[in-house]
Amino acid sequence: MRFMNLHYVKRYRMELDLRRWQRPRIEVPVDYRLVTWHPSLVLAHAEVKYLSFRGEIDSQIFPCLGEIEGCEELMSEIEARDGFLPEGTWLAEYIGMEGSTPEYCGTIQAIRTHKSRASIQNIGVAPYHRDRGIGTALILASLLGLHHLGIRRVCLEVTAENEAAVRLYRELGFRTARTLYKAVELAHSEAAR
Ligand SMILES: CC(C)(COP(=O)(O)OP(=O)(O)OC[C@H]1O[C@@H](n2cnc3c(N)ncnc32)[C@H](O)[C@@H]1OP(=O)(O)O)[C@@H](O)C(=O)NCCC(=O)NCCS
Repeated sequence: MRFMNLHYVKRYRMELDLRRWQRPRIEVPVDYRLVTWHPSLVLAHAEVKYLSFRGEIDSQIFPCLGEIEGCEELMSEIEARDGFLPEGTWLAEYIGMEGSTPEYCGTIQAIRTHKSRASIQNIGVAPYHRDRGIGTALILASLLGLHHLGIRRVCLEVTAENEAAVRLYRELGFRTARTLYKAVELAHSEAAR
């Protein structure tokens, strides 16, 4: 018998008003490129999602993010949603030096939630590629795509404890609109840690 323990995780709903957005230049680091959405990239998005989220705080809250099968199911489900927005969905690819094998290393998806509103989701950069501006470039590319579609307000949710992500979103102009508490069931052994 597994004992479950309910735990409340603090999350922020952050928003950005795209009507007042000063479109910044998107700077993609040398050796990287951004790749637009194509249906053939579902598994690539899923794999980068898995590499980015495994072992991170969000994979405890959303266990599917910590498993490759879970990420594949999630990505297929996102792509099939009515509101799925290819214009706000990007991959980052490391192209490296001549002779090195390109690899996908960053992902972001967008969903329309209302006529003029959208959410961006599952922003992830694989550990080795972090702190080089890839996360920033992915978010700006997504916001630019949403801006072109006439989206006025963009929201996202982030775990309060995820300080690097919260700081990045604030730097890009997102502001906390609400604080939410998500109930998470932890197995007894995990809860005791
Ligand atoms: C959150 C996350 C997506 C950020 O991705 P990233 O590629 O590291 O983001 P960036 O490189 O654009 O920015 C990160 C930091 O590097 C800095 N940076 C950007 N370019 C840089 C460069 N060329 N040289 C040095 N630092 C740089 C940024 O200013 C930022 O600094 P800060 O930590 O002081 O705010 C990544 O940490 C991640 O995937 N985390 C795990 C998954 C996750 O939790 N996702 C968020 C879900 S809501």
